[in-house]
Amino acid sequence: MTIHIGADSGEIAQTVLLPGDPYRARWAAENFLKNARLVNEVRGMLGFTGTWKGHRVTIHGSGMGMPSLSIYVNELIRDYGARTLIRIGSCGGMQDHVALRDVILAMTASSISTPSKGILRELNFAPCADWSLLQAAAQAAQRRGTRTHVGGIYSSDVFYDERPDLNEQMVRHGILGVEMEAAELYTLAARHGCRALAVLTVSDHLLSGAALSSAERETSFADMVEIALEAAFA
Ligand code: HPA
Repeated sequence: MTIHIGADSGEIAQTVLLPGDPYRARWAAENFLKNARLVNEVRGMLGFTGTWKGHRVTIHGSGMGMPSLSIYVNELIRDYGARTLIRIGSCGGMQDHVALRDVILAMTASSISTPSKGILRELNFAPCADWSLLQAAAQAAQRRGTRTHVGGIYSSDVFYDERPDLNEQMVRHGILGVEMEAAELYTLAARHGCRALAVLTVSDHLLSGAALSSAERETSFADMVEIALEAAFA
């Protein structure tokens, strides 16, 4: 048990999928895991452990934003021994060739700041995905026929952004999409010698203003869960 996770030691698997939304964690556990058991509900942040094709997996909410994710990922790695951590979430598309429902595999995650800034200070550390997970996820997505992009994303501290000039620079520099968690996930994984990846569905588009319906979000979420599980155990 930690400050934010009520699971006993041994109740968290080495492989953890991290949706932002705790209800998505429950949905994914109910639909993809065998013998899924609730192992955390502190502050309503649900975590489940079960098996997928015989492999132990935990699916645990991260909350929204890097400070929230940082709390859970620190405890999952340092106290529970998690070794492979895959974020499954949504992002806003930032390029014309990136469409709603497309999957983005985040090779790198740029940011203005992360919770790790305090220790990295003047270093512009480049948070990047684990290559073995990235490669396996790209192959899994290709097998499934999912329209997929691999490249850089932006991890923002704000959803309601007031810096159009910064977004312009992101677009200009080929950033595929914006979300709010991956840069800190990648930084923590690097610090602790773990594997990490963010698998993201484009749920809205910053250039066109289009957005997925909630039914479309659910089917695209299922796609991401399968890509993440196949990548984790490739
Ligand atoms: N901004 C930040 N995070 C997001 C977005 C967005 O437009 N869409 C999904 N996650």
